[in-house]
Amino acid sequence: MLRRTSEASLFPQFDVRQVHLACSDNLAYMQSMQAESIQLIVTSPPYNIGKAYEHRHEMEDYVRRQRQVISECVRLLSPRGSICWQVGNHVAGGEILPLDILLYPEFKRHGLFLRNRIIWQFGHGLHCSKRFSGRHEAIMWFTKTGDYVFNLDAVRVPSKYPGKKHFKGPKRGELSGNPMGKNPTDVWEIPNVKSNHVEKTIHPCQFPVELVERLVLALTNPGDAVFDPYMGVGSSVIGALRHDRVGYGCDIVQEYVDVAQQRVDDLRAGTLRTREMGKPIYDPDKPGGGH
Ligand SMILES: C[S@@+](CC[C@H](N)C(=O)[O-])C[C@H]1O[C@@H](n2cnc3c(N)ncnc32)[C@H](O)[C@@H]1O
Repeated sequence: MLRRTSEASLFPQFDVRQVHLACSDNLAYMQSMQAESIQLIVTSPPYNIGKAYEHRHEMEDYVRRQRQVISECVRLLSPRGSICWQVGNHVAGGEILPLDILLYPEFKRHGLFLRNRIIWQFGHGLHCSKRFSGRHEAIMWFTKTGDYVFNLDAVRVPSKYPGKKHFKGPKRGELSGNPMGKNPTDVWEIPNVKSNHVEKTIHPCQFPVELVERLVLALTNPGDAVFDPYMGVGSSVIGALRHDRVGYGCDIVQEYVDVAQQRVDDLRAGTLRTREMGKPIYDPDKPGGGH
């Protein structure tokens, strides 16, 4: 296993131990990790649809392999920790198979608890002619136990009517909503990374960092470990580092690991460009795009 750890810190609050990137098969990499050492595992596995980085397998083989990776992830997960498995559809012969439906039993066999099935909604993708164009994917958020980290205040979003008050009853005249904002709900509209996105790299399907940041802030505390077993170009690691968490990731493609390393270096140098969390979505129908 080729293991690479980032070098000199140009970003004072980060120390070199805070990022661990490896070009490795994930099962091999995880073997060397300590049980119950990770607070958040956030990832997007291959969908078995023949992308550049995957070989198409029979679905039984695909599920068997996912079962092994998920088992190892459960072993690594701390008792108050979370697993977020982000998936879309496997497509064959024009028929879709939502991978969350397929993989849900693989988490339940370990007794994990599904807390949310978050719908990630985005604006860009293939234009279908024989079915409605797909514009969402899912994040299955599981916890290991009933006592888990959930920092809702860290991820509240602006209320629709921030000054709204109770108009009757004992609380009449008091603000009816939380002054820190509202719960972001389980439907998240975050632009996906297409060619004109500020975070676009050579990877065909990378996470927007903003998606990971919300999970990191809500499901971990500063100093906690975050791991992505299908790291790609390191978006999960970037999301972790940006909030002073420790980032671990591995990918089998050296080129992606190199880009991940470069992004970490750029983050430390203060030159990495990411889309700002909570920035309004561009709307061509609104004056100025709605910004
Ligand atoms: C959907 S992509 C993840 C992209 C990532 N979320 C990002 O933001 O860049 C899946 C990744 O899994 C990697 N991969 C596939 N099989 C793997 C394995 N056995 N071990 C580690 N990585 C693997 C692929 O090379 C690919 O980069």
